[in-house]
Amino acid sequence: MNYQIAVEGTEFSFPCDSNESILDAAQKAGFELPYSCRKGVCASCEGRLVTGQVLVGGENPDRILDGAHDGLPFCKTWPLSDLLIAPKRIEKIDPSARKTITATVFRVLRPTPDVTLLHLRFPAGNKVKFKAGQYLQVLMDDGQRRSFSMANPPAEKDGVQLHIRQVPGGRFSEGVVSSLCGGDKLTVELPYGDFYLREESSKPILFVATGTGFAPIKSMIEDALRQGTSRDMILYWGARKAQDLYLASLPMRWAEEVENFTFIPVLSDPEPDWVGRTGLVHKAVLEDHPSLIAHQVYACGNPAMTTACREDFTKLAGLPVSEIYCDAFVIGA
Ligand SMILES: Cc1cc2nc3c(=O)[nH]c(=O)nc-3n(C[C@H](O)[C@H](O)[C@H](O)COP(=O)(O)OP(=O)(O)OC[C@H]3O[C@@H](n4cnc5c(N)ncnc54)[C@H](O)[C@@H]3O)c2cc1C
Ligand code: FES
Repeated sequence: MNYQIAVEGTEFSFPCDSNESILDAAQKAGFELPYSCRKGVCASCEGRLVTGQVLVGGENPDRILDGAHDGLPFCKTWPLSDLLIAPKRIEKIDPSARKTITATVFRVLRPTPDVTLLHLRFPAGNKVKFKAGQYLQVLMDDGQRRSFSMANPPAEKDGVQLHIRQVPGGRFSEGVVSSLCGGDKLTVELPYGDFYLREESSKPILFVATGTGFAPIKSMIEDALRQGTSRDMILYWGARKAQDLYLASLPMRWAEEVENFTFIPVLSDPEPDWVGRTGLVHKAVLEDHPSLIAHQVYACGNPAMTTACREDFTKLAGLPVSEIYCDAFVIGA
C-alpha cells in the first residue's frame, strides 16, 4: 500500500510505501530528516506522529500506534495509513549530490594498535561535496555497508581521511582495514548524515567526543578555523587512557594558537601519572557548565555517551533540545 506523509507546519509531503520506513521515503523524495545510525538505536531521528496509524519496529514486540505520539524513531517506523508527522527538522536536499566512487588507498597510519588513519584519494575529476561532520558508507564485497565519518575539512576535495577504530571481530575494521596497503581500492558512497556544523548560529560550541568520535569533530573544527569563526569552541575528548587520544597533539596545538579554542581531555581509567581531568566526559562538561542554555552541542562517538549528553544536558543543564546534534557510532551500522 502506498500512503501520503504530510509534514506539520510545512507545505512538504511525500509518498511512502507500507514496507518503507518514513526516513527512507523522505530521503527518496528529496527531503532530509535528522538521522545517524538508521537502526533505531541513537534517537537522532525521533519525531512526533500527529495523526494516523504506524507500525514501530526495532522493539520486542513491534507496536502499532494510532494518533498523537512523541519520540517515534522514523528510521524504524512504517505507515499503516496517511500520516501527519512533526520531525525535529526537515529540509529539501539534492539526491544527486550523493556519489558512489572507487577510491584508492593513499596512506595508512596506525597511531595506536586499534586506530587506523586511512587516507583515500578520489579519481581525478571526481570532487565530492560534503559538509564538515558528515559520513560515508564503505560498500563491501558481500553487499554489506559500514559507516565512517570524514575527518578532513570539505575544502580538501580530492579525497577523504577516515579514523577507524578496530572492533574485535569486525568484518571491515579487522578483516579489511588491518591488511590495507597503498594502492588498494575501496568503494565508498557519500555524503550521509545531518551531523554538521550549523554555521548560521553564533552560539558558543561545545564539542564532546569519545575515541574516533573525534574524526567528524576534527573536520568541523578545521573547517570553522579555515573560515575564521569568532565563535567560542571547547572540545572535551574522552577516552580510557592517554594513549587512546590518538591525535591529542592536534587539539593541543589549536588551543595554543587559537584564542577562541579550548581543549579538555578527560580520561576514565588514567595511569597514576595523569594530571588532567578524570571520569566520564559528559559529566566533566556538566561540572564545568551547570547551565548550557546558551550553547550549541555536537556529541559524537560511543552511543552511551551521546545518549547521556542528550538526556543530561537537556534535563539537567537546560540545553534546548534543538541545540544538540549527535552521531552515535553504532556497531554494524
Ligand atoms: C553515522 C556513523 C558514523 C560512524 N563513524 C565512525 C568513524 O568515523 N570511525 C569509527 O571507528 N567508527 C565509526 N562508526 C562505527 C562503525 O561504523 C562501526 O563500528 C562498524 O560496525 C565497524 O564495522 P566492522 O565491520 O569493523 O564491525 P562489525 O562487523 O559491524 O561488528 C563488529 C563486532 O560487533 C558485533 N556486533 C555487530 N553488531 C552489533 C550490535 N548491534 N551490538 C553489539 N555487537 C555487535 C559483531 O558480532 C562483531 O563481533 C560510525 C557509525 C555510524 C552509525
Ligand atoms: S534511531 Fe533512527 S537514525 Fe538512529
